[in-house]
Amino acid sequence: MPGQMVRWREFADPARFERVAAEFILGAAAEAIAERGAFRIVLAGGETPRPIYERVAAADADWDRWHVYFGDERCLPPDDPGRNSVMARSAWLDRVAIPAPQVHGIEAERGPEAGAQRYAAAVSGFGPFDLVLLGLGEDGHTASLFPGGPWEGVTSGNPPDAGAAIPPVVSVFDAPKPPPGRISLSAARLGDARRVLFLVAGAGKRVAVARWQAGDPIPASRIRPLGGVDVFFLDSARG
Ligand code: 6PG
Repeated sequence: MPGQMVRWREFADPARFERVAAEFILGAAAEAIAERGAFRIVLAGGETPRPIYERVAAADADWDRWHVYFGDERCLPPDDPGRNSVMARSAWLDRVAIPAPQVHGIEAERGPEAGAQRYAAAVSGFGPFDLVLLGLGEDGHTASLFPGGPWEGVTSGNPPDAGAAIPPVVSVFDAPKPPPGRISLSAARLGDARRVLFLVAGAGKRVAVARWQAGDPIPASRIRPLGGVDVFFLDSARG
């Protein structure tokens, strides 16, 4: 199984980190729409992407060609401020004219299993995503794929390893980062992408980044698209 090819970019200035990340997203969209007439993007959760989403929302883009998915969702009520979808809608999606049927939310309020079953249908039947955005936790998790999770034995690829029965969506019941119940795209489905961009910010992520660079098998290292992954790391404390 080939390893993960990683292109690292480190930033000290938050404004530049946000600007370059927004340009990366908009550039991927323009290319996909020019080549295939549509842009399928998977959004990262957590707080790091918020200012980047706000910048993207301010751009003039062919929003009617965008199809938005979520890398993971927390099992909370639909309007709970802890939901990744609530952050993405307030920072971006509610500010632009992406047709509502093209925003594919995860029905995490149904619970990890029922919600995962419904989301599996939404992310099946088409090929690679054009762009997958991901975050990185201090323990090396990404999306809701945590160390030691039940998915660990599953490799990823683009497309997933031939023959392996790899689910596109996984149910999580004991996430160490609250809430415990979550729904996540699998490592395989996250890696089934033309581009993957990790958005990582803060000195608190230094250890996870160092482990990743040292080759530790953290969950983030299991996302292995053929084209490799890009990691933008904002370590503003380094100055
Ligand atoms: C979640 C996210 C998770 C997040 C990382 C980083 O639901 O919590 O999907 O994977 O991206 O934990 O979070 P921050 O960007 O807030 O540090």
